[in-house]
Amino acid sequence: MADNFDAFVENLQERIFDETREAFGEAGFQRWRHPLYRGPLEAPDAHARVTGNCGDTMEIFLKFDDLRVSDAAYRTDGCGSSTVCGSFAAEMAIGKDPDELLTITGEAILEKLGRFPEEDRHCAFLAADTLQEALNQYMLSRKKKK
Ligand code: FES
Repeated sequence: MADNFDAFVENLQERIFDETREAFGEAGFQRWRHPLYRGPLEAPDAHARVTGNCGDTMEIFLKFDDLRVSDAAYRTDGCGSSTVCGSFAAEMAIGKDPDELLTITGEAILEKLGRFPEEDRHCAFLAADTLQEALNQYMLSRKKKK
């Protein structure tokens, strides 16, 4: 009985993995299984929190060193797709200066992923919007310090 149950669970997991790999492609699937850059970050230089039309919230945390992102992280209460997109947004931000950060759009995240479910594309735009809002916060805080 226990063997049957274990086999059932293993089978089910395999099926979920296959379907997720099919939907996200290999890069997205690996990130879904092992989400890197999970936040929060301690004492970030910038932080933004944006809730999308779907009702999910994304947060991005940035640390800067010499005007370049030295560390980045995301946090979301959303689905697996928003986790994947938040993780890629954080990864893409690291090492970038403000001008380069502006190039991280929803399209850029989707391009990096290569393949993504059509119905979840908005997750990439939520991640990008949140990153841009964090950049805004950073620029405003620099202005105030002057
Ligand atoms: Fe809302 Fe993914 S479904 S961000």
